[in-house]
Amino acid sequence: MAKFQVPLIKNPLRTGEFYYFCASKPKYKTKTLTVTTGFLKHHPMDKILVIGAAGQLGSELTRALVDQFGGDQVIATDLRASASTLFPYCRFEVLDVMDKEALGALVKKERVTQIYHLAAVLSATGEKNPQFAWQLNMESLLHVLELAKECGLDKIYWPSSIAVFGPSTPKVNTPQFCEKDPNTVYGISKLAGEGWCNYYFEKYGVDVRSLRYPGLIGYKSLPGGGTTDYAVDIYHKAIAKQPFTCFLSEDTYLPMMYMPDAIKATLDLMNAPKEAVKIRSSYNLAGMSFSPKEIFESIKKEVPSFEISYQVDFRQSIADSWPDSIDDSRARADWGWKPSYDLDSMSKDILKHLPAFFPPQS
Ligand SMILES: NC(=O)c1ccc[n+]([C@@H]2O[C@H](COP(=O)([O-])OP(=O)(O)OC[C@H]3O[C@@H](n4cnc5c(N)ncnc54)[C@H](O)[C@@H]3O)[C@@H](O)[C@H]2O)c1
Repeated sequence: MAKFQVPLIKNPLRTGEFYYFCASKPKYKTKTLTVTTGFLKHHPMDKILVIGAAGQLGSELTRALVDQFGGDQVIATDLRASASTLFPYCRFEVLDVMDKEALGALVKKERVTQIYHLAAVLSATGEKNPQFAWQLNMESLLHVLELAKECGLDKIYWPSSIAVFGPSTPKVNTPQFCEKDPNTVYGISKLAGEGWCNYYFEKYGVDVRSLRYPGLIGYKSLPGGGTTDYAVDIYHKAIAKQPFTCFLSEDTYLPMMYMPDAIKATLDLMNAPKEAVKIRSSYNLAGMSFSPKEIFESIKKEVPSFEISYQVDFRQSIADSWPDSIDDSRARADWGWKPSYDLDSMSKDILKHLPAFFPPQS
Protein backbone atom coordinates (compact mmCIF):
# COMPACT_ATOMS: atom_id res chain seq x y z
CA MET A 1 0.00 0.00 0.00
CA ALA A 2 1.25 3.51 -0.80
CA LYS A 3 2.58 5.55 2.11
CA PHE A 4 2.14 9.29 2.07
CA GLN A 5 4.58 11.80 3.49
CA VAL A 6 2.58 14.94 4.03
CA PRO A 7 3.38 17.72 6.47
CA LEU A 8 0.16 18.75 8.15
CA ILE A 9 -0.16 22.44 8.73
CA LYS A 10 -2.87 24.56 10.25
CA ASN A 11 -4.68 26.26 7.45
CA PRO A 12 -7.82 28.34 7.89
CA LEU A 13 -8.97 27.73 4.35
CA ARG A 14 -11.81 25.61 3.21
CA THR A 15 -10.89 24.36 -0.23
CA GLY A 16 -7.79 24.03 -2.31
CA GLU A 17 -5.48 21.98 -4.42
CA PHE A 18 -3.04 19.96 -2.34
CA TYR A 19 -0.07 17.79 -3.14
CA TYR A 20 1.19 14.60 -1.64
CA PHE A 21 4.31 12.53 -1.95
CA CYS A 22 3.82 8.89 -2.77
CA ALA A 23 6.72 7.03 -1.13
CA SER A 24 6.28 3.81 -3.12
CA LYS A 25 6.30 5.69 -6.44
CA PRO A 26 8.50 8.67 -5.61
CA LYS A 27 6.85 11.57 -7.33
CA TYR A 28 4.51 14.33 -6.32
CA LYS A 29 0.87 14.02 -7.17
CA THR A 30 -1.88 16.57 -6.94
CA LYS A 31 -5.49 16.33 -5.95
CA THR A 32 -8.26 18.84 -5.28
CA LEU A 33 -9.64 18.64 -1.78
CA THR A 34 -12.80 20.12 -0.36
CA VAL A 35 -13.19 20.30 3.39
CA THR A 36 -15.22 22.54 5.63
CA THR A 37 -12.85 23.02 8.55
CA GLY A 38 -9.62 21.73 9.93
CA PHE A 39 -6.35 20.96 8.28
CA LEU A 40 -5.16 21.16 4.71
CA LYS A 41 -1.94 19.79 3.34
CA HIS A 42 0.52 21.76 1.28
CA HIS A 43 3.16 20.86 -1.24
CA PRO A 44 6.23 19.86 0.81
CA MET A 45 8.39 21.65 -1.77
CA ASP A 46 6.61 25.02 -1.59
CA LYS A 47 9.19 27.78 -1.11
CA ILE A 48 7.80 31.24 -0.61
CA LEU A 49 9.66 34.48 -1.29
CA VAL A 50 8.20 37.69 0.15
CA ILE A 51 9.50 40.92 -1.41
CA GLY A 52 8.96 44.11 0.60
CA ALA A 53 8.30 41.95 3.68
CA ALA A 54 9.11 44.67 6.21
CA GLY A 55 6.22 46.95 5.28
CA GLN A 56 2.79 47.41 6.84
CA LEU A 57 1.30 44.45 4.98
CA GLY A 58 4.40 42.30 4.60
CA SER A 59 5.29 42.16 8.28
CA GLU A 60 1.90 40.56 9.04
CA LEU A 61 1.48 38.54 5.86
CA THR A 62 4.92 36.94 6.27
CA ARG A 63 3.96 35.72 9.74
CA ALA A 64 0.74 34.23 8.33
CA LEU A 65 2.70 32.51 5.55
CA VAL A 66 5.09 31.03 8.10
CA ASP A 67 2.08 29.74 10.04
CA GLN A 68 0.82 28.09 6.88
CA PHE A 69 4.00 26.77 5.27
CA GLY A 70 6.51 26.60 8.14
CA GLY A 71 9.51 28.84 8.89
CA ASP A 72 11.91 26.86 6.69
CA GLN A 73 9.75 27.38 3.62
CA VAL A 74 9.50 31.19 3.76
CA ILE A 75 12.19 33.77 2.92
CA ALA A 76 11.41 37.35 3.92
CA THR A 77 13.26 40.03 1.92
CA ASP A 78 13.36 43.80 1.95
CA LEU A 79 15.55 46.68 0.89
CA ARG A 80 16.06 47.66 4.53
CA ALA A 81 18.70 45.57 6.30
CA SER A 82 17.46 46.82 9.70
CA ALA A 83 14.24 44.88 9.11
CA SER A 84 15.97 41.58 9.88
CA THR A 85 14.90 41.88 13.55
CA LEU A 86 11.25 41.68 12.45
CA PHE A 87 11.66 38.09 11.33
CA PRO A 88 12.94 35.88 14.18
CA TYR A 89 10.70 33.09 12.86
CA CYS A 90 12.06 32.76 9.30
CA ARG A 91 15.04 33.60 7.13
CA PHE A 92 15.60 37.21 6.15
CA GLU A 93 17.67 38.48 3.20
CA VAL A 94 18.35 42.01 2.01
CA LEU A 95 17.05 42.24 -1.55
CA ASP A 96 16.50 45.18 -3.87
CA VAL A 97 13.76 44.03 -6.22
CA MET A 98 15.14 46.42 -8.85
CA ASP A 99 18.26 44.25 -9.00
CA LYS A 100 16.90 41.71 -11.46
CA GLU A 101 20.00 39.53 -11.37
CA ALA A 102 20.08 39.28 -7.58
CA LEU A 103 16.36 38.46 -7.56
CA GLY A 104 16.81 35.77 -10.21
CA ALA A 105 19.83 34.28 -8.46
CA LEU A 106 17.97 34.03 -5.14
CA VAL A 107 14.89 32.46 -6.75
CA LYS A 108 16.98 29.86 -8.57
CA LYS A 109 19.34 29.08 -5.70
CA GLU A 110 16.51 28.66 -3.20
CA ARG A 111 14.18 26.91 -5.65
CA VAL A 112 11.46 29.42 -4.90
CA THR A 113 8.02 28.33 -6.11
CA GLN A 114 5.86 31.31 -5.11
CA ILE A 115 6.56 35.05 -4.89
CA TYR A 116 4.56 37.59 -2.91
CA HIS A 117 5.69 40.89 -4.39
CA LEU A 118 4.69 43.68 -1.98
CA ALA A 119 7.34 46.37 -2.55
CA ALA A 120 5.88 49.59 -3.95
CA VAL A 121 5.82 53.35 -3.56
CA LEU A 122 2.38 54.19 -2.17
CA SER A 123 -0.08 56.92 -3.22
CA ALA A 124 0.93 59.96 -1.17
CA THR A 125 4.68 59.29 -1.36
CA GLY A 126 4.41 58.60 -5.09
CA GLU A 127 3.06 62.10 -5.76
CA LYS A 128 6.27 63.56 -4.34
CA ASN A 129 8.45 61.64 -6.82
CA PRO A 130 6.28 60.35 -9.69
CA GLN A 131 9.12 59.15 -11.93
CA PHE A 132 10.62 57.05 -9.19
CA ALA A 133 7.21 55.64 -8.18
CA TRP A 134 6.50 54.58 -11.76
CA GLN A 135 9.94 53.04 -12.13
CA LEU A 136 9.82 51.03 -8.92
CA ASN A 137 6.20 49.93 -9.19
CA MET A 138 6.37 48.90 -12.86
CA GLU A 139 9.88 47.57 -13.33
CA SER A 140 9.76 45.47 -10.19
CA LEU A 141 6.51 43.82 -11.27
CA LEU A 142 7.94 43.06 -14.70
CA HIS A 143 11.05 41.55 -13.11
CA VAL A 144 8.87 39.23 -11.07
CA LEU A 145 6.52 38.29 -13.93
CA GLU A 146 9.43 37.60 -16.30
CA LEU A 147 11.10 35.42 -13.69
CA ALA A 148 7.85 33.55 -13.10
CA LYS A 149 7.62 32.87 -16.83
CA GLU A 150 11.27 31.91 -17.20
CA CYS A 151 11.42 29.63 -14.14
CA GLY A 152 7.86 28.28 -14.35
CA LEU A 153 7.01 29.45 -10.83
CA ASP A 154 3.80 28.03 -9.35
CA LYS A 155 2.11 31.24 -8.21
CA ILE A 156 2.67 34.99 -7.93
CA TYR A 157 0.84 37.40 -5.64
CA TRP A 158 0.87 41.11 -6.40
CA PRO A 159 -1.44 43.60 -4.69
CA SER A 160 -3.34 46.27 -6.56
CA SER A 161 -5.38 49.03 -4.93
CA ILE A 162 -8.59 51.06 -5.00
CA ALA A 163 -6.25 53.74 -6.41
CA VAL A 164 -6.91 52.26 -9.88
CA PHE A 165 -10.25 54.10 -9.75
CA GLY A 166 -10.59 57.80 -10.54
CA PRO A 167 -12.98 60.74 -10.77
CA SER A 168 -15.12 59.13 -13.52
CA THR A 169 -15.55 55.87 -11.61
CA PRO A 170 -18.98 55.29 -9.96
CA LYS A 171 -18.31 56.23 -6.33
CA VAL A 172 -20.81 54.07 -4.48
CA ASN A 173 -20.52 50.27 -4.67
CA THR A 174 -17.87 50.65 -7.36
CA PRO A 175 -18.25 47.65 -9.70
CA GLN A 176 -15.48 45.21 -10.63
CA PHE A 177 -15.55 46.37 -14.25
CA CYS A 178 -16.12 50.09 -14.83
CA GLU A 179 -14.40 53.26 -16.00
CA LYS A 180 -10.98 53.81 -14.41
CA ASP A 181 -9.11 57.09 -14.79
CA PRO A 182 -6.64 57.16 -11.88
CA ASN A 183 -5.11 60.57 -11.23
CA THR A 184 -2.10 59.55 -9.13
CA VAL A 185 1.07 57.93 -10.46
CA TYR A 186 0.45 55.17 -7.92
CA GLY A 187 -3.01 54.48 -9.35
CA ILE A 188 -1.71 54.63 -12.92
CA SER A 189 1.02 52.12 -12.06
CA LYS A 190 -1.43 49.78 -10.33
CA LEU A 191 -3.84 49.88 -13.29
CA ALA A 192 -0.99 49.18 -15.73
CA GLY A 193 0.24 46.43 -13.40
CA GLU A 194 -3.18 44.78 -13.46
CA GLY A 195 -2.97 44.76 -17.25
CA TRP A 196 0.48 43.14 -17.12
CA CYS A 197 -0.73 40.47 -14.69
CA ASN A 198 -3.61 39.58 -16.99
CA TYR A 199 -1.25 39.60 -19.98
CA TYR A 200 1.24 37.18 -18.40
CA PHE A 201 -1.61 34.87 -17.40
CA GLU A 202 -3.22 34.90 -20.85
CA LYS A 203 -0.02 34.76 -22.93
CA TYR A 204 2.31 32.69 -20.79
CA GLY A 205 0.07 30.91 -18.27
CA VAL A 206 1.71 32.60 -15.27
CA ASP A 207 -0.61 31.93 -12.30
CA VAL A 208 -0.62 35.48 -10.99
CA ARG A 209 -3.31 36.55 -8.51
CA SER A 210 -4.18 40.00 -7.22
CA LEU A 211 -6.50 41.98 -4.93
CA ARG A 212 -7.45 45.64 -5.05
CA TYR A 213 -6.95 46.36 -1.36
CA PRO A 214 -8.81 49.22 0.25
CA GLY A 215 -6.94 51.25 2.91
CA LEU A 216 -5.36 48.74 5.29
CA ILE A 217 -5.56 49.31 9.03
CA GLY A 218 -3.40 47.35 11.46
CA TYR A 219 -1.81 47.87 14.86
CA LYS A 220 1.37 45.82 14.49
CA SER A 221 3.20 48.16 12.11
CA LEU A 222 3.14 51.72 10.87
CA PRO A 223 1.65 52.72 7.51
CA GLY A 224 3.93 53.42 4.54
CA GLY A 225 2.80 56.72 2.98
CA GLY A 226 -0.75 56.13 1.70
CA THR A 227 -3.82 58.38 1.63
CA THR A 228 -5.60 56.19 4.19
CA ASP A 229 -2.77 56.37 6.76
CA TYR A 230 -4.90 58.64 8.98
CA ALA A 231 -7.03 55.64 9.96
CA VAL A 232 -3.96 54.03 11.57
CA ASP A 233 -2.46 57.22 13.05
CA ILE A 234 -5.73 58.10 14.80
CA TYR A 235 -5.51 55.03 17.09
CA HIS A 236 -1.95 55.96 18.13
CA LYS A 237 -3.19 59.38 19.26
CA ALA A 238 -6.18 57.84 21.04
CA ILE A 239 -4.06 55.53 23.21
CA ALA A 240 -1.64 58.40 23.93
CA LYS A 241 -4.68 60.44 25.10
CA GLN A 242 -3.72 63.18 22.66
CA PRO A 243 -5.98 65.09 20.23
CA PHE A 244 -5.81 63.99 16.58
CA THR A 245 -5.51 66.33 13.58
CA CYS A 246 -6.90 64.68 10.48
CA PHE A 247 -5.58 65.50 6.98
CA LEU A 248 -8.93 64.56 5.38
CA SER A 249 -12.26 66.32 5.90
CA GLU A 250 -14.73 64.78 8.34
CA ASP A 251 -17.12 63.47 5.69
CA THR A 252 -14.59 61.81 3.34
CA TYR A 253 -15.77 58.22 2.94
CA LEU A 254 -13.18 55.67 1.87
CA PRO A 255 -13.16 51.87 1.62
CA MET A 256 -11.04 50.37 4.40
CA MET A 257 -10.11 46.96 5.75
CA TYR A 258 -8.78 45.62 9.03
CA MET A 259 -5.47 43.80 8.55
CA PRO A 260 -6.66 40.34 9.72
CA ASP A 261 -9.31 40.46 6.98
CA ALA A 262 -6.70 41.54 4.40
CA ILE A 263 -4.44 38.64 5.39
CA LYS A 264 -7.34 36.21 5.24
CA ALA A 265 -8.41 37.47 1.81
CA THR A 266 -4.85 37.11 0.51
CA LEU A 267 -4.46 33.55 1.75
CA ASP A 268 -7.97 32.62 0.59
CA LEU A 269 -7.20 33.87 -2.92
CA MET A 270 -3.77 32.24 -3.05
CA ASN A 271 -5.07 28.90 -1.81
CA ALA A 272 -8.12 28.85 -4.06
CA PRO A 273 -8.07 26.26 -6.84
CA LYS A 274 -6.63 27.76 -10.03
CA GLU A 275 -9.89 27.41 -11.94
CA ALA A 276 -11.79 29.37 -9.26
CA VAL A 277 -9.63 32.46 -9.90
CA LYS A 278 -11.50 33.87 -12.87
CA ILE A 279 -10.25 37.45 -12.75
CA ARG A 280 -6.56 37.76 -13.57
CA SER A 281 -6.24 41.54 -13.49
CA SER A 282 -7.26 42.11 -9.85
CA TYR A 283 -10.30 41.45 -7.66
CA ASN A 284 -12.35 44.20 -6.00
CA LEU A 285 -12.24 43.61 -2.24
CA ALA A 286 -14.32 45.29 0.47
CA GLY A 287 -14.30 45.29 4.24
CA MET A 288 -15.94 48.45 5.56
CA SER A 289 -16.43 52.05 4.53
CA PHE A 290 -16.31 55.04 6.89
CA SER A 291 -15.45 58.73 7.20
CA PRO A 292 -12.98 60.35 9.65
CA LYS A 293 -15.97 61.49 11.71
CA GLU A 294 -17.27 57.93 11.98
CA ILE A 295 -13.94 56.40 13.00
CA PHE A 296 -13.56 59.19 15.57
CA GLU A 297 -17.01 58.39 17.00
CA SER A 298 -16.18 54.69 17.10
CA ILE A 299 -12.98 55.38 19.08
CA LYS A 300 -14.79 57.83 21.36
CA LYS A 301 -17.03 54.98 22.54
CA GLU A 302 -13.89 53.43 24.05
CA VAL A 303 -11.93 56.64 24.81
CA PRO A 304 -14.57 59.26 25.77
CA SER A 305 -12.07 62.12 26.21
CA PHE A 306 -10.69 61.76 22.64
CA GLU A 307 -10.73 64.91 20.48
CA ILE A 308 -10.33 65.53 16.75
CA SER A 309 -9.73 68.54 14.49
CA TYR A 310 -9.30 68.78 10.71
CA GLN A 311 -6.50 70.30 8.66
CA VAL A 312 -6.94 69.18 5.09
CA ASP A 313 -3.84 68.77 2.85
CA PHE A 314 -2.96 67.49 -0.65
CA ARG A 315 -4.17 64.01 0.21
CA GLN A 316 -7.80 65.26 0.19
CA SER A 317 -7.84 65.47 -3.61
CA ILE A 318 -6.49 61.93 -3.88
CA ALA A 319 -9.17 60.67 -1.48
CA ASP A 320 -11.87 62.60 -3.41
CA SER A 321 -10.95 60.73 -6.59
CA TRP A 322 -11.36 57.30 -4.96
CA PRO A 323 -14.59 55.33 -4.37
CA ASP A 324 -16.69 55.63 -1.21
CA SER A 325 -17.46 51.92 -1.20
CA ILE A 326 -16.66 48.81 -3.27
CA ASP A 327 -18.72 46.00 -4.77
CA ASP A 328 -16.73 42.81 -4.13
CA SER A 329 -19.41 40.34 -5.26
CA ARG A 330 -17.04 38.64 -7.73
CA ALA A 331 -14.54 37.79 -4.96
CA ARG A 332 -17.42 36.48 -2.85
CA ALA A 333 -18.80 34.36 -5.69
CA ASP A 334 -15.53 33.06 -7.17
CA TRP A 335 -13.54 32.06 -4.07
CA GLY A 336 -15.84 32.62 -1.11
CA TRP A 337 -14.58 35.93 0.25
CA LYS A 338 -16.32 37.26 3.38
CA PRO A 339 -14.93 39.89 5.77
CA SER A 340 -15.16 39.42 9.54
CA TYR A 341 -14.72 42.92 10.99
CA ASP A 342 -16.80 46.09 11.02
CA LEU A 343 -15.69 49.51 12.30
CA ASP A 344 -16.62 49.02 15.97
CA SER A 345 -15.19 45.51 16.28
CA MET A 346 -11.97 46.74 14.63
CA SER A 347 -11.71 49.76 16.97
CA LYS A 348 -12.18 47.60 20.07
CA ASP A 349 -9.54 45.13 18.89
CA ILE A 350 -6.96 47.78 17.95
CA LEU A 351 -7.36 49.78 21.16
CA LYS A 352 -6.92 46.57 23.16
CA HIS A 353 -3.73 45.41 21.38
CA LEU A 354 -1.99 48.56 20.14
CA PRO A 355 -0.31 49.60 23.45
CA ALA A 356 1.64 46.33 23.58
CA PHE A 357 3.11 47.02 20.12
CA PHE A 358 3.54 50.79 20.36
CA PRO A 359 3.60 51.96 24.00
CA PRO A 360 1.86 55.36 24.09
CA GLN A 361 4.21 58.37 23.81
CA SER A 362 3.13 61.29 25.98
N1 LIG B 1 -1.22 49.65 3.01
C1 LIG B 1 -2.32 49.88 2.29
O1 LIG B 1 -3.27 50.50 2.75
C2 LIG B 1 -2.39 49.33 0.89
C3 LIG B 1 -3.58 49.50 0.16
C4 LIG B 1 -3.65 49.04 -1.13
C5 LIG B 1 -2.57 48.35 -1.69
N2 LIG B 1 -1.44 48.19 -0.96
C6 LIG B 1 -0.31 47.51 -1.61
O2 LIG B 1 0.22 46.50 -0.77
C7 LIG B 1 1.64 46.43 -0.94
C8 LIG B 1 2.32 46.59 0.41
O3 LIG B 1 1.94 47.83 0.96
P1 LIG B 1 2.48 48.31 2.37
O4 LIG B 1 1.44 49.20 2.95
O5 LIG B 1 2.97 47.15 3.16
O6 LIG B 1 3.70 49.22 1.91
P2 LIG B 1 4.94 49.70 2.81
O7 LIG B 1 5.44 50.97 2.20
O8 LIG B 1 4.58 49.69 4.25
O9 LIG B 1 6.00 48.53 2.56
C9 LIG B 1 6.72 48.39 1.37
C10 LIG B 1 8.03 47.69 1.69
O10 LIG B 1 8.74 47.55 0.47
C11 LIG B 1 10.11 47.81 0.76
N3 LIG B 1 10.77 48.25 -0.47
C12 LIG B 1 10.76 49.47 -1.05
N4 LIG B 1 11.53 49.49 -2.14
C13 LIG B 1 12.05 48.24 -2.27
C14 LIG B 1 12.93 47.64 -3.20
N5 LIG B 1 13.45 48.32 -4.22
N6 LIG B 1 13.24 46.34 -3.03
C15 LIG B 1 12.75 45.63 -1.98
N7 LIG B 1 11.92 46.15 -1.05
C16 LIG B 1 11.58 47.46 -1.20
C17 LIG B 1 10.11 48.90 1.82
O11 LIG B 1 11.33 48.93 2.53
C18 LIG B 1 8.91 48.48 2.67
O12 LIG B 1 9.31 47.66 3.74
C19 LIG B 1 2.01 47.52 -1.95
O13 LIG B 1 2.07 46.96 -3.24
C20 LIG B 1 0.84 48.46 -1.88
O14 LIG B 1 0.66 49.16 -3.08
C21 LIG B 1 -1.32 48.65 0.31
